[in-house]
Amino acid sequence: MCGIIGYVGSKDLVSVLLNGLKRLEYRGYDSAGMAIKTNLGITLLKSEGKITNLESIIKEQNLAGLDGNIGIAHTRWATHGKPTTINAHPHSAGSISLVHNGIIENYQELRIILEEEGFKFKSDTDSEVLAHLINKFYNGNLPQAVEKALNEVEGTYGAAVISKEDNMIVGAKKGSPLILGIGSGEHFLASSEIPIRDHTRRIISLKDGDIITITKDKYNIVSLGQRQEREIETIEWDTEALEKKGYKHFMLKEIHTQPETLTETLRGRIEPNKKNIHLGGFDNLPGEYFEQLNRIILLGCGTSWHACKVGKYLFEKTLRIPVAAEYASEFRYQNPVVNPGDMVMAVSQSGDTADTLAALQEGIRRGGVPFGMVNVVGSQIAREADKGIYLHAGPEIGVASTKAFTSQVLAFNLLNLYLGIIRNKISDEEAQDMIVAIESIPSKVREALLLENEIKAVAEEYCNHSNFLYLGRGLNFPVALEGALKLKEISYIHAEGYPAAEMKHGPIALIDNNMPSVFVATEMNSSCSKIISNMEQVRSRNGKIIAITTEDYSSQIGPLADHTIYVPNVQEYLSPIVNVIPLQLLAYHIADMKGLDVDKPRNLAKSVTVE
Ligand code: F6R
Repeated sequence: MCGIIGYVGSKDLVSVLLNGLKRLEYRGYDSAGMAIKTNLGITLLKSEGKITNLESIIKEQNLAGLDGNIGIAHTRWATHGKPTTINAHPHSAGSISLVHNGIIENYQELRIILEEEGFKFKSDTDSEVLAHLINKFYNGNLPQAVEKALNEVEGTYGAAVISKEDNMIVGAKKGSPLILGIGSGEHFLASSEIPIRDHTRRIISLKDGDIITITKDKYNIVSLGQRQEREIETIEWDTEALEKKGYKHFMLKEIHTQPETLTETLRGRIEPNKKNIHLGGFDNLPGEYFEQLNRIILLGCGTSWHACKVGKYLFEKTLRIPVAAEYASEFRYQNPVVNPGDMVMAVSQSGDTADTLAALQEGIRRGGVPFGMVNVVGSQIAREADKGIYLHAGPEIGVASTKAFTSQVLAFNLLNLYLGIIRNKISDEEAQDMIVAIESIPSKVREALLLENEIKAVAEEYCNHSNFLYLGRGLNFPVALEGALKLKEISYIHAEGYPAAEMKHGPIALIDNNMPSVFVATEMNSSCSKIISNMEQVRSRNGKIIAITTEDYSSQIGPLADHTIYVPNVQEYLSPIVNVIPLQLLAYHIADMKGLDVDKPRNLAKSVTVE
């Protein structure tokens, strides 16, 4: 949600910033801009829309190769003020230019005061207030002016500031991510390590309250007036993960590489005797904690929340303790009941989602023990939780989450097994059977991906429909929710996920021959006849049925459905991983057939770092 990058060094400044913005574009793409400092002063370049628009402006002005060595850049996801050029960052005031990710909550009060003091505003943004405040306090000492300005603001920020006079960038972090990249004779500041990894693997993830100064050769981190020494981390992911590698879109690549990303999620986690699970991120808690645990709270947003719902189903069935799967965005405002010692687990691909981070902090405040299930190593949630399980699915660039979901469900399976064994709910034999099933998952997903041509044919037939219903029961209900979310976010088609049996309590009124229903109908041992009657209810109202099922149910479902997609048979707890594959492909192909920008759907951004 907004991406920033700053660079000090001797490489071609405009290219470093522009390429960095392209890497960060998944965080927002309403408008973009950069400020470059040369011996002539600071040049500001801004444009509405995607980074390619900014690139055209740069080309027109023939700025590539300009002799500058300090610059900051920003790609925006609008919160305050429309996505216009005037509202694009950087914002300038006096000799100051600033890029900001986050929200200044008291900007209206501050703006009134500043305007009364004679400061003239150009934009509608909250961020411009910060630029004016820094300018107001600037008397030749940039870090000090930034610190004084930040003392006045309430809200969140990952910010980078330059001035005409200083050969440095000053960065500040609170609530929004900010990473330092340490190169040789160059330094970077960015909202994630993704744009930095093209240049260096050595990073420091800054902490809330840090103010950092970078020059070509040095960096200095200060918090509460004290200089800080921080350990340098090494980034492990390679930059190949950031390329499309022949796929038309990142989303398609991410769908197709799930056999490999699931293998990575499993790596090193199954003990050689195949009777136990190794989770390094749980080692620092005594076994008694898990034996005595009597409540789990899972927190997530969007797709990650759907994975939490799968986790709840697994844990409750195996562990027989109450599990809540809560929308992180609601949790902290509902006066939640958290008992001391409850496991509070934040589930997040990015590890930077503001709602999920805030919910985790609320859980901690109320006495819960924090855990994370996160993909991005070293992200804010990972650090706040300190214990948990990394997905190791590699960077997810497509805005619609795909491989993170399947890795989350797999990680929940590992965790369920781990806890079930500790709590004597799973015998050695059961553990071995489950582990064999878990190990087969990458190849089952590979099989499911072979359904692509069949799904493309379905997509062709339905891509012009305006409404879809996705239905499933039990474990397949969160899969139905996920299928509907994928379709609406990238194809802008209205889609609703519903428990199949709830359909008759309302949504059935919508059914006619223009409203296709996608039934996720595997795992129906006890509810097969019920799902069949739900299908009959749709058919008798002329509704079209697309069924995701297994060959086991071909005789019951085949005759009822207009299209039947047979997914491979897998163990029940793992079925959401396989069942979601056709739904990801269906959403992808419908959006692609409609000619939409699949990787950057309108109004969305990858990491939602504002509440
Ligand atoms: C859906 C999607 C979003 C995210 C949600 C949480 O495709 O991408 O719904 O799942 O914003 O993001 P993370 O998992 O990064 O916390």
